[in-house]
Amino acid sequence: MEKFDKTTEEILKSLEKTQHDFWNISRVTGEFLYTLITAQKCKNVIEVGTSNGYSGIWIGKALKQTGGHLTTIEFYDKRQSIAKENFKLCKIDDIITPLQGDACTILEYMPEDIEIDFAFIDANKRQYIDYFHFIDKHIKKGGIIAADNVLSHEEKVKTFIDEINQDKRYENVILNLPAGLSLARKISD
Ligand SMILES: C[S@@+](CC[C@H](N)C(=O)[O-])C[C@H]1O[C@@H](n2cnc3c(N)ncnc32)[C@H](O)[C@@H]1O
Repeated sequence: MEKFDKTTEEILKSLEKTQHDFWNISRVTGEFLYTLITAQKCKNVIEVGTSNGYSGIWIGKALKQTGGHLTTIEFYDKRQSIAKENFKLCKIDDIITPLQGDACTILEYMPEDIEIDFAFIDANKRQYIDYFHFIDKHIKKGGIIAADNVLSHEEKVKTFIDEINQDKRYENVILNLPAGLSLARKISD
């Protein structure tokens, strides 16, 4: 898919060359997130694990279509600075709030009235369960929690996958995209 402006396409292609250094999602996962967020008309999206902003570009471009907003959390300020620059070059910085710090702390103190309709989890694999507990309180009925690396890091994310699979409020599927992407839709409060 080549549907973005020339600069965005060039940035995506250039970031794909260092994909393994920054642990970015695969291009096909980016395309999938873009299509899903656009089709679902998601407005309020949160990402845990910004890195250099590769996945954020796909999400941000989708939210430009839907009129939505992305909040993205990254621990390391150097990676966050690179992401901020990439968001600016791709002209999506006006709809992205990058937060720097520990995701658990930031999520725990998120204002109670914030409602999220799409969450993308892609940070510390053993903390997926904690991110889920914090994010769950904010996910609207019909909203989606997507998590990457659930096949490549199956053992580390097991507590999260086991719990969400057993949670009757969610319908979870695991897609055989590179690294494995779980997709849980909240069907009841
Ligand atoms: C797999 S990379 C994210 C890749 C990004 N989603 C992409 O595809 O472009 C995970 C990122 O999460 C960050 N991270 C890990 N644990 C974190 C935490 N507890 N709080 C905030 N960021 C964290 C790491 O520094 C790293 O940059």
